[in-house]
Amino acid sequence: MPESVQLDFLGNLRRTHSCGALRAEHAGNRALLMGWVHRRRDLGGVIFIHLRDREGVSQVVFRADGDTAVHSRAENLRSEFVVAVEGQVVRRSEDTVNAAIPTGEVEVVAERIWILNESKTPPFPMEEDIAVSEDARLKYRYVDLRRPRMQRNIILRSKVSFAVREHLYANGFLELETPFMTKSTPEGARDFLVPCRTQPGHFYALPQSPQIFKQLFMVAGYDKYFQIVRCFRDEDLRADRQYEFTQIDMEMSFPQQETVYETVEPMVLHMCQVAGFDLKGPFPRMTHAEALRSYGSDKPDLRLPPFHCVEDLFAGEGLTAEGMPLVAIVIPKTGAVSRKERDELKAFGQERGLRVFDDSKRLERDFPAAMAVVRERTGAGEDDLLILAGWGQAPAGKRPEETVLMAAGQLRLHAGQKYNDRHNLLDPRDLRWLWVVDFPMFEWDEEEQRWNAAHHPFTSVKDEDVDLLVNDPARCRAKSYDLVMNGYELASGSIRIHQREIQSKVFSAIGLSQEEARGKFGFLLEALEYGAPPHGGIALGLDRVVMLLAGEQSIRDVIPFPKTAKGTDLMCEAPSVVPDRNLREIGIQVRAAK
Ligand code: AMO
Repeated sequence: MPESVQLDFLGNLRRTHSCGALRAEHAGNRALLMGWVHRRRDLGGVIFIHLRDREGVSQVVFRADGDTAVHSRAENLRSEFVVAVEGQVVRRSEDTVNAAIPTGEVEVVAERIWILNESKTPPFPMEEDIAVSEDARLKYRYVDLRRPRMQRNIILRSKVSFAVREHLYANGFLELETPFMTKSTPEGARDFLVPCRTQPGHFYALPQSPQIFKQLFMVAGYDKYFQIVRCFRDEDLRADRQYEFTQIDMEMSFPQQETVYETVEPMVLHMCQVAGFDLKGPFPRMTHAEALRSYGSDKPDLRLPPFHCVEDLFAGEGLTAEGMPLVAIVIPKTGAVSRKERDELKAFGQERGLRVFDDSKRLERDFPAAMAVVRERTGAGEDDLLILAGWGQAPAGKRPEETVLMAAGQLRLHAGQKYNDRHNLLDPRDLRWLWVVDFPMFEWDEEEQRWNAAHHPFTSVKDEDVDLLVNDPARCRAKSYDLVMNGYELASGSIRIHQREIQSKVFSAIGLSQEEARGKFGFLLEALEYGAPPHGGIALGLDRVVMLLAGEQSIRDVIPFPKTAKGTDLMCEAPSVVPDRNLREIGIQVRAAK
């Protein structure tokens, strides 16, 4: 840093334009710009700086043959200094026009400069395409957030949130808040707990979602609620999961499932539109059973072709266990696939329990008639990779078929991703939204040997399946739906239970005694007895939606201040040790972890 740069005060200076605003028609005007020194070129007699703010960049010129005092102050400027400059906007000569920036037809000839702050040399340059470790980016997040990619992402996030508000306000929704210091909400993760100083041994839980409160809004008559709200879940972090994340949370009274779809689809299209995607509805719908049977996933990526179950063509041949699926996976346009590559695919499938038949030539020799039908059913051509996948012995669990299909679904995706450079189907700008509907009501918990609510325990069962609640929970379907895009679950919702008696039945189906149910959700059960209307809703994961709209691979790149994959905030070094005095105050003693 140059020594002893005299800093100026802002005083009563006011900006006239943002750095991205100047155009040819401003030539002749005076401008006072403020921003960061993005780049500086010192040609001796002339110093050029690119002055940057979030709107863009303008070129500012300091001439030695002009005001020498101003020119010599500009000699002190370095990257990321914060300055104000005032001068005349002039047209650039034809040969110096910079077509790469929107302000490139003009420049500001500086007549006055104020150096408002200096900057250390930044830990990494602001340029777009310079690889920087994520740890460095997160430690100096305020610098990282200045980079063009992050600016685009964070500004997009703001625009998408605004699009949501615009749509929902226009459609009669109320934006209402729910508490952060509350009681546990059952969304399947651990809670973050907050000790209560005045009641030692008592804790609030941060909400995993506002689920119960939004239902209470419906009981209270506040039909059509929404909230763009932070949720907290202590679960393993991944590229699409953070401890704290944001939901677009909605609830309505008296809705059909259709009402929810009709509300959400135009909102999603509007969100896509502000991100530059011009899509049309309606989104396709697929039952959960069909998604499993054709994609081996409850969040199918429709950019790759579906797979086909062909066990009927190989009956008694021993390719898959009795009663289990045999799946034909086709990956288009892979061309020749080497032995080594096929071995890798086979190993990937085997690790997940599949028996993989990767040699289609051999299958064709051994089962010519059946394979002719497989080709017909799947449409697999000579240039495509064709694999069959079955299972050795029927897997354990209540829905063994699902285990086989899910493993085959993973193999399909893995193979699709592996050869993407050949077929290019997994284009991140090809947004394939769909609704997955009719989820099973329960999932079997092998460890606990009991059923769990597949969505959450407030989800309504399909009218025609109510009797199965007690008789055959495995076959019981829910009035629930997910909104899926390109292999990601982006939203989940359901029509809720609004009658106390059915709610109690569901609690007992998942092994909650009356006593436990009252302890955990007594207030909701009670509320259901005071005129709860039929209601339902949905919550979208804002971070995930913005991630996909921005073409990013991790939600960390669309959250201003995220935690690392290990849950640490590298910038402010959270979580951190708390002094004993503070712990005593809240009645907590820390023991070494076992
Ligand atoms: P669910 O638990 O499916 O439903 O969450 C809704 C959506 O929130 C997003 N999401 C996450 N995003 C980032 N990090 C996480 N840890 C995380 N967990 C969830 C996903 C998901 O689809 N109360 C219900 C909704 C309802 O029934 O109305 C709920 O929370 O995009």
